[in-house]
Amino acid sequence: MSLDQDLHNIADKVMHVISKDKSIAVVTHSDADGIISGSIIAKMLARKNARFTVKVVSDMSDKVIEEMRSINNDFYIITDLGAGFAKRFDDTFNDSWIVLDHHQLPEEEKDNNNVFNIWKYGKDGSKDISAGGLCYLLAEHIDSKNRDLSQLAIVSAIADRQDQGEKRSLVGLNKDIAEVAKSLSLLRIDLDLMLVGRETRALHEALAYTSFPYIEGLTWNVSACYALLTNAGLKLKEDDRWRVLSELNDDEKRSIIDAIAKFVAVTSNASKIIDDLIGYVYTLLKEDNRSMLRDAREFSTLLNACARIGKAGVGIAICLGDRNSMLKEGENVINEYRKRLSSYINTLMQERWRIKDDGKIVTVNGENLLAEDMLGAVSSLLSSSPSMHGRSIIVWTRTKDDTYKFSSRKSNSSNANLGLIMRDCSSKVGGSGGGHAPAAGARIPNNRLLEFLECLKESIHAAN
Ligand code: C5P
Repeated sequence: MSLDQDLHNIADKVMHVISKDKSIAVVTHSDADGIISGSIIAKMLARKNARFTVKVVSDMSDKVIEEMRSINNDFYIITDLGAGFAKRFDDTFNDSWIVLDHHQLPEEEKDNNNVFNIWKYGKDGSKDISAGGLCYLLAEHIDSKNRDLSQLAIVSAIADRQDQGEKRSLVGLNKDIAEVAKSLSLLRIDLDLMLVGRETRALHEALAYTSFPYIEGLTWNVSACYALLTNAGLKLKEDDRWRVLSELNDDEKRSIIDAIAKFVAVTSNASKIIDDLIGYVYTLLKEDNRSMLRDAREFSTLLNACARIGKAGVGIAICLGDRNSMLKEGENVINEYRKRLSSYINTLMQERWRIKDDGKIVTVNGENLLAEDMLGAVSSLLSSSPSMHGRSIIVWTRTKDDTYKFSSRKSNSSNANLGLIMRDCSSKVGGSGGGHAPAAGARIPNNRLLEFLECLKESIHAAN
């Protein structure tokens, strides 16, 4: 099996469908990588004057397949989803579908020519390339004009936390795509001080809301950060406007690092904290200074927020190029997302009965509290807290269609592969699930909760 040959075949198939003026349905995943995947395919199709629609779904299921079938399109492009469903796609859509995905897939799907999944080619879909990256490879193969979409593929890799190389750099095919974006002057890569919100947040807030590295006394403590930075002589405002990290000069950044170094000097992991503050920053050069879209990590946070609060359309419009009303709407989305997340965390802290911790696994019962699309945001945030260190986190809620939806994260280096565990345990109880080793999810029938939880716990403990 060769990636280049399969890419060529898939591209031929798509070009054939376009040339016959067939109606195409793009079905993508509702997260940042899914939004970018759908947008890259949409842009590529629009540039070829193809007829298409884009639909965003939380996960693949028989119900979604039935909805897709009932709309009755000629061809289906499924992105960032679909591992484990190839047979059902074959049965429902014959040969008129392709999947572009980077989630681990069952062995029996590896021979299916309609599945373009990076795991087929000996690569690691959790760090070598995202679904957005695969969609980019297809778009670029179909027309080299689409090389400008390389910058979006970088945002999707960052969104899916594929920056796992040294100092949070991109590796594998992501690195090659970054080179394309750099060669087109779309992207700059710098080794720099890393705080969240580097283009948009006041410095003391940026420091306070940075949870990696976690700094006891500073993280989530805005007033302590304000005091630290003003005492260090930093000029936090200019002309009545808060300054942001991206506009500081090297000396100013150095004085922030020195101030933090003094603050953490007595802690045992001081040098690790300082080391973790420096990493590779990916800047999209065509975006305005101080825009949420200029720093790839902030861009990915915005798209993630769009997906989580049910406004994926805003994210897609931004990826397709809207820099007016939709970008403004993006600011509202981010505020709403932060508000919801903090209200969830406050309630979870008050209603302690929801959280059970056996030292290796933390379960969080989010029934009648967490909206299903926010589960991943909650499990990610919890997993960044030092109190969760060394554990796997499992969060669930009951959904509108009366199933249970799960999200899990690994906050340790155990051998547990949550993607495979979610897939196996969910299939045992008549559900579906999957994902990556450190981050995965599932959906199961409402009468199999205890059995499913038991299976998860047993499998995770067995791997520890
Ligand atoms: O929803 P959440 O962010 O927790 O998802 C984590 C990972 O698990 C994602 O990559 C998602 O695509 C995957 N997942 C899956 N099947 C599900 C739910 C999530 O493959 N039913």
